[in-house]
Amino acid sequence: MNNREKELIERLLRERSLSEAEYAELIENRDGEAAGRLAEHAVETRKAVFGDAVYTRGLIEISSICKNNCLYCGIRRDNRNAERYRLTKEDILSCADEGYGLGFRTYVLQGGEDAFFSDEVLGDIVSEIKRKHPDCAVTLSMGERSRESYQALYDAGADRYLLRHETAAPEHYAKLHPKEMSFENRMQCLQDLKEIGYQVGCGFMVGSPFQTADTLAKDLKFIETFRPAMCGIGPFIPHHDTPFREERAGTAELTLFLLSVIRLILPEVLLPATTALGTIDPKGREKGILAGANVVMPNLSPVRVRRKYELYDNKICTGEESAECRGCLEARMKSVGYRLVIDRGDAPGFERNDQ
Ligand code: 5AD
Ligand code: FES
Repeated sequence: MNNREKELIERLLRERSLSEAEYAELIENRDGEAAGRLAEHAVETRKAVFGDAVYTRGLIEISSICKNNCLYCGIRRDNRNAERYRLTKEDILSCADEGYGLGFRTYVLQGGEDAFFSDEVLGDIVSEIKRKHPDCAVTLSMGERSRESYQALYDAGADRYLLRHETAAPEHYAKLHPKEMSFENRMQCLQDLKEIGYQVGCGFMVGSPFQTADTLAKDLKFIETFRPAMCGIGPFIPHHDTPFREERAGTAELTLFLLSVIRLILPEVLLPATTALGTIDPKGREKGILAGANVVMPNLSPVRVRRKYELYDNKICTGEESAECRGCLEARMKSVGYRLVIDRGDAPGFERNDQ
């Protein structure tokens, strides 16, 4: 680590901000020593806010049907080989009930952009979950919708919304998405969600095709200014039935480095060690926590559908052995000195006060 890198890290610690050019420099000049230094500070920062608690969210993958055609994604519309499924309200409620018994107090309903899940249908499911489990938070991750739709779902009881921005560089966005999708609309959605009152999560893939230190610097600047409550980052992993099948995967190394940087920019952010990170490295999620992450999202989907929600190749937690991801992660977190807690795990200062 050279002196300049040291200086950038010290300033990031002090000011929780660098210029875009400096973020790019920090990334380009990184080495193992810089990563170690950042991780040390990130863990210290995270411990000051969250102690040794790791929050969990029960992930329920409610539909693999999607009208979009993102070039990287295994459930893109044009993938004829993807097996499509949609969970029923009863399926989803029984996952939630089972999850409650396992200790989950947040459910994440994630799915493709599937028109079946209208505001009425999805709102009804959200309000039913909240009625049966009033001490739980519901997070939605159902893609781009209208402001009215986001409002209706918030009124139905949804607390949080995850919508990765994917990249904060418009030219890069255009290389990852088909023409009919727009960077501006994505950003508008994030703005709308925030104004409505959701705890909002943005995020991006690490090592996606055409990504550079400059596009990553824009992502970091966006995170710094947008100040999301949550931020999901994980390595890009090619899927064999997508246009990006021959592209290289992102690395655990860069993902861990960026997790530490994001923790230092936003000490209170909810930062998951993602399944994608656990897929490219068998100890990826443990390493994520040791780099400054504080959330894990075990899979709660019915085991029979898990293989069908395949955004990328070799996704973990899809076999029979994964029937109880929570227990598996509990042991993994314990192995690195952390504990899974039974808690909604809201972002500090973000509890809903209208109930
Ligand atoms: N590799 C890694 N992450 C992916 N996602 C979609 N496809 C892939 C892939 N091939 C991520 C996107 C999306 C989230 C649900 O999953 O960032 O927002
Ligand atoms: Fe799913 Fe380990 S977390 S099998």
